[in-house]
Amino acid sequence: MLDKVKELNEKFKTASPQEVLEYFLKTYKGKIALSSSFGAEDQVLTDMILKQDKSAKIFTLDTGRLPYETYSVMDNTNLKYNIKVDVYFPDAKEVETLYKEQGINGFYESIENRKRCCFVRKIAPLQRALQGLNIWITGLRASQSITREAMHLVEYDENNKVIKLNPLLLWSEEDVWDYIKTHKVPYNKLHDHGYPSIGCAPCTRAIKEGKDIRSGRWWWENPEHKECGLHKK
Ligand code: ADX
Ligand code: SF4
Repeated sequence: MLDKVKELNEKFKTASPQEVLEYFLKTYKGKIALSSSFGAEDQVLTDMILKQDKSAKIFTLDTGRLPYETYSVMDNTNLKYNIKVDVYFPDAKEVETLYKEQGINGFYESIENRKRCCFVRKIAPLQRALQGLNIWITGLRASQSITREAMHLVEYDENNKVIKLNPLLLWSEEDVWDYIKTHKVPYNKLHDHGYPSIGCAPCTRAIKEGKDIRSGRWWWENPEHKECGLHKK
């Protein structure tokens, strides 16, 4: 697998995200999906993907704690492209147990609690969503955080046994917003109110301009902990 990944990274070293998507959507038709949190990067990818293949799978993990504005952009996206993004919910029993164990907002109390909540509400549903797929497309960008600087366009995800594709890896925030404006892509209105990165409502807050773009996520934790586990190595 590592050789294959290396070869693909080499092949697409200078390719545009659209060229990369064209190859993967054709080669892995029916075995490829974009995971979308409806953040700006995911909206760009949704637009690029659906312009190439109307039937491509796009899914979201609805943790049950998402902000109102995320549901609005989900609705607007479904309407604009005449699709229904697949939604994966957490297991009801597991959420009930989580609540019994740590209360409704227990994630503020320790990193262990927070990781457990992210596991129940995101990781387990992600594992379900990726079943049977070969390629997992994400909206990760290298400049989003110190935890993402060393990522590659194509990676092998040991945990989920899929090839992970990050077509916007080398894009800047400006590239993302230029695309959104030029192509009139629907976006989460929280982005207009100081939220460059948006996750669950209780774990995301607005930031001051010039601050690290993920500093509003799990703001009470150190930067090196700020991954929910979706993207761990
Ligand atoms: S996170 O791991 O900290 O939550 P982030 O919000 O930066 O990640 O998003 C990075 C990528 O992870 C997104 O582009 C998307 O591919 C995926 N992702 C994050 N949250 C979700 C979600 N709720 N549903 C589906 N995909 C998600
Ligand atoms: Fe739970 Fe917060 Fe993780 Fe969402 S981001 S799953 S609310 S700990």
